[in-house]
Amino acid sequence: MKRIIIFYSYSNNTRKIAEKIHEKYGYDMVEIKPVEDYSTDYQKVVDSEEKLVPLDYQPDIEKLDIKIANYEEIILCTPVWWYSVASPVNTFLHNYPLKGKTIIPVATNGGWLGRTFENIEKITGANIKNPISLKFEGDRLINLYDFEDWLNNLEQKEQ
Ligand SMILES: Cc1cc2nc3c(=O)[nH]c(=O)nc-3n(C[C@H](O)[C@H](O)[C@H](O)COP(=O)(O)O)c2cc1C
Repeated sequence: MKRIIIFYSYSNNTRKIAEKIHEKYGYDMVEIKPVEDYSTDYQKVVDSEEKLVPLDYQPDIEKLDIKIANYEEIILCTPVWWYSVASPVNTFLHNYPLKGKTIIPVATNGGWLGRTFENIEKITGANIKNPISLKFEGDRLINLYDFEDWLNNLEQKEQ
């Protein structure tokens, strides 16, 4: 069963998580990149996305250099933005053929996960498996042990 890690990260928490999964299992990994860079002013992004996320905003993203059909399972790593997936991830979910695939969602957040997992399922029609919510305080992962446990069991849970 072939897996790929697909991630987006604005302030690098999710990038570090995706890289840890990649280091342990060597799955292919690709990054979702918005065509237009976000402002480096964190608060500005938080404020503008507060209006955009509820409008189902889908910013343009660069074409991913992969064939989804080659993979059965997608480990989707996303920050939570306003109780859902980050907007560039929203674009990805709407534009790639994910119906019937299995998505393992990894959502980094500050403690308010909202409807992130439900929305991933609703948008894609994919099957959601082994979702994990990773809570950060700034760049510090609070539930590190949950992550380590999840990571160690990522392949065993298959058999
Ligand atoms: C635009 C924006 C909206 C956010 N909304 C939420 C939220 O609804 N709930 C939450 O717990 N954290 C929220 N956060 C915090 C991020 O989810 C958290 O810091 C995450 O780990 C950032 O991942 P990254 O460093 O990979 O970008 C938000 C951050 C940003 C920039």
